Amino acid sequence: MSAIDWKNLPFGYFKTDYNVRAYWKDGKWSPLEVTDSEYINMHMAATCLHYGQEAFEGMKAFTGVDGKIRIFRLDENCKRLNNSCIGLIMPEISQEMFREAVLKVVSLNKKYIPPYGEGASLYIRPLLIGTGAEVGVRPAREYMFLIFVGPVGPYFKEGFNPVKMQIVRDYDRAAPLGTGHIKVGGNYAASLRAGVRAHDEGFASCIFLDAKEKKYIDEAGPANFFGIKGNTYVTPKSHSILPSITNMSLRTLAEELGMKVDVRPVPVEELAEFEEVGACGTAAVISPICSIYDRDSDKVYQYCKEGKAGEMSLKLYTMLRDIQDGKAPDKYGWITFVE
Ligand code: PLP
Ligand code: COI
Repeated sequence: MSAIDWKNLPFGYFKTDYNVRAYWKDGKWSPLEVTDSEYINMHMAATCLHYGQEAFEGMKAFTGVDGKIRIFRLDENCKRLNNSCIGLIMPEISQEMFREAVLKVVSLNKKYIPPYGEGASLYIRPLLIGTGAEVGVRPAREYMFLIFVGPVGPYFKEGFNPVKMQIVRDYDRAAPLGTGHIKVGGNYAASLRAGVRAHDEGFASCIFLDAKEKKYIDEAGPANFFGIKGNTYVTPKSHSILPSITNMSLRTLAEELGMKVDVRPVPVEELAEFEEVGACGTAAVISPICSIYDRDSDKVYQYCKEGKAGEMSLKLYTMLRDIQDGKAPDKYGWITFVE
C-alpha cells in the first residue's frame, strides 16, 4: 500500500481491506461475515433497487492525542438506524450486533485510521438494504446489513473555514409527513438536483425550507442548521429534519457553556437576527456559514467578520473535537474505544 496523503483526503470512497455483512432470512440475522469484496451479488428484483428500501448511517473513528482510537456516539447511530428500519418496515438490529460489527470493521482496517492531527478521520458507513425479490410494492423478506469504512477529510472542502449557502424554494428533500426524519436513500436522491445546482452556482450547499409553507428553515443540505443569537443556540424543529447526533451533542455542549438552547421552527427572516450560523453533522462537523443567498428575493445574509468563524461556533467546535480527540474528558459517555 502506498503512503496515504492524510492531509489532502477528500470526503470520498477509499478502498480498505475488509467490510462486514449479515443477512436476514427466515426471520433472523445471520452471524457477521467478513469479506474483502467491494461488491454485492444481488437479485435484480431486490426492493432496495426498485423501491428504495434502504437506510444508512454515518459515524467517525478518530485517533486521539494519546494514540487511542475513539468512536463517537455509536449507540445513537444504532438507535437512528433502527428508527429508519421502523420507517421502511425493515428488520431492526440489536445494539450488541451493531457494536460488534462497528468494532470489528474498524479493527480490521486499523491501518486506514488517520493519525492524530492530520485533520482526517475514519468514516464508518453502515447500510441496511432490502435484498429479497419483489415486484409488487411491499417490504422484502430478505435483507442485508453491511458496514464499510474509509479515511476521509472534511465534507466541505473549506473544512472549518466558512462556506456560502443558498436557500431554495423550488425543490424539497422531504415531504412534511414523509421520510425526512429518518436516514433513507430516497431523501438524498430527492436532494441531488438542488445540491448540484447550488454547487454549479458557487455554493457549498443549499438550505431547504419546510415543504408545506416555505416559511421555515429545515436543513442545510446533508447537515442540520443552527444559529447563535446572543447567548442562545437556536436550531429548527421540524418533522422533516434528520435528528442530527452532532446537533444533539452541540446542544449539550452549549448548555455546558451556560447558553440557552432553543429548538423551534426558525422563520427565514430570522436569519437577519443571528450573529453566527452554521451547518452541523458527522461529515461536516461544524461548517460555519459566512453568507446565505436567497435565490428568490436576491437577498444576502452576511455573517463572519473578516471571513472567520464566530466565537461561539469556534468554542463549540473545539469542545466537540477535543472530546473526539481525547483532549477533553468524556463526561457524557459519548466515546467507545477500539482495542
Ligand atoms: N441532516 C442530514 C440530511 C444528514 O444526512 C446528516 C448526516 O448524517 C445530518 C443532518 C447530520 O447528522 P449527524 O450529526 O447525526 O451526522
Ligand atoms: C454524515 O454526516 O454522516 C452524512 O451521512 C452526511 C452525508 C455524507 C450524506
